[in-house]
Amino acid sequence: MPNHVVPARRAPPATARHRHRPPATDRASHRPPPPPPPATASRAGGIGDTGGVAALIPRPRTEIAPGAVHVPGWLSPSRRRDFVTACREWAKPPAGMRATRMPTGGVMSVQTVCLGWHWLPYRYTRTAEDVDGAPVKPFPGWLADLGRRAIADAYDDPAAARQYQPDVALINFYDDTARMGMHADKEERSLAPVVSLSIGSSCVFRFGNSSTRNRPWTDVQLESGDLFVFGGPARLAHHGVPRTIPGTGDPEAGLEAGRLNITLRESGLT
Ligand code: SIN
Ligand code: MN
Repeated sequence: MPNHVVPARRAPPATARHRHRPPATDRASHRPPPPPPPATASRAGGIGDTGGVAALIPRPRTEIAPGAVHVPGWLSPSRRRDFVTACREWAKPPAGMRATRMPTGGVMSVQTVCLGWHWLPYRYTRTAEDVDGAPVKPFPGWLADLGRRAIADAYDDPAAARQYQPDVALINFYDDTARMGMHADKEERSLAPVVSLSIGSSCVFRFGNSSTRNRPWTDVQLESGDLFVFGGPARLAHHGVPRTIPGTGDPEAGLEAGRLNITLRESGLT
């Protein structure tokens, strides 16, 4: 698997604060909109354009590549708040949040805590071997339910949703300088989709191809509350986060600065 490590660097200065968000969907009432338009970068005005008229234009649900779907504004404000509260608890020891040390000796700029199974390069364990050796925190049932709703909404496929049994969550925290290099999620034995939820600062999410870490790729701006699902032909696509966008935190969710990303996966492990 390619190296996740990228040296931390300073992000460019904040521009205007981006505050537009389409009405958040509380799941009970949410139904997927009509089929998505062809893949494009998700925001008018371009990636990282956090102000101007771009803030006026609703972001559409978009199929970035076959099997890779971006659903903006999927998490309601109360869900986002609940997640921030939960992440603060999950981050605490034992088996708490840490910057992962890579076999090359580098340290990831992103900090991570896991539920269900502990990820370390490049395998899963039941204890946080590279933290304090404590058992990994349990993967809660409500999170699996949310994962199934995410699959149902992103793919408009209730049958696929019923089959989805996520048992691992990786919770990543990005400060304003953190980023993640291009990689593919290959430690899971199951090829079930990855469900990704973003809260807090916006970021540039780079979604590439399965063959190489290089182009072609599509840059997508992920904002607080966005859902991104990649499965099927996109499951092993390389992806990364070249930068977050300072000044775009989500005070309503209790995260003034920084970005949380929660990915749900099926480990295929017993
Ligand atoms: C990941 O690839 O594990 C995280 C991606 C993200 O932070 O959006
Ligand atoms: Mn990944």
